[in-house]
Amino acid sequence: MSKKIYLYGNWKMNMTAAETKKFFDEFSGVYKPADDLEVGVFSPFTSLWALAEGAKKCNVVFGAQNVYFEEKGAFTGEVSIPMLKEIGVKYVILGHSERRHIFGESDEMIAKKVKAVLDAGMIPVLCYGEKLEERESGNTFTVMERQLKSAIKDLTADEISKIIYAYEPVWAIGTGKSATSEQAQEVCEWSRKLIANPNVVILYGGSVKGSNAKELLSMKDIDGALVGGASLKPASFLEIYTAYKN
Ligand code: PGA
Repeated sequence: MSKKIYLYGNWKMNMTAAETKKFFDEFSGVYKPADDLEVGVFSPFTSLWALAEGAKKCNVVFGAQNVYFEEKGAFTGEVSIPMLKEIGVKYVILGHSERRHIFGESDEMIAKKVKAVLDAGMIPVLCYGEKLEERESGNTFTVMERQLKSAIKDLTADEISKIIYAYEPVWAIGTGKSATSEQAQEVCEWSRKLIANPNVVILYGGSVKGSNAKELLSMKDIDGALVGGASLKPASFLEIYTAYKN
């Protein structure tokens, strides 16, 4: 059998609960489950109830886009792991470049979140990637080594193996300009070595769509895609998998 493809949609700050319900009404009509496909959807907190309902009906995994590492208390505006668990959330995107660069999340904070999510028996989808100026100045691998090592340095080998990794070059996110399949493969292969586990799941993210899915997902070390813009409509989201298969 061909390799399993992870098709994860990061809705970012899009999709109200009503829009989420509408998405799944449509999605359930067009989605054909396959043994070599795992679909996941990550919505804003306020849509998680609707997401849980839709995702369970369609048998796809679902999760949140962030969480705070403390269990409860005086942390105005934050959402805790027990709050997510109550809705049945098992997956959480952590360290997305928008969290790092717009909201100032540090490597240290992301590491605490990764640990807390693992301790709760949940699965972090850990994003990392370089900015354009970092790539152009030849610092791609230094930056990513810092981001990855800080997140996993205090974890056991078993914990490290549970994380889903997502390489997302910042310059490719939401720009329409994806990394080339060679660039993405180079980083994912390098990441697998750094993580020191040949079997971890590594996704590529950054302007993935039907037209570039096949070349990206065919690369040896790319296990799937973390998709922003193209995940907002069932047709453009699922087209990524069908384009890869055809
Ligand atoms: P994009 O976003 O597909 O819209 O580039 C990807 C992401 O940020 O996860």
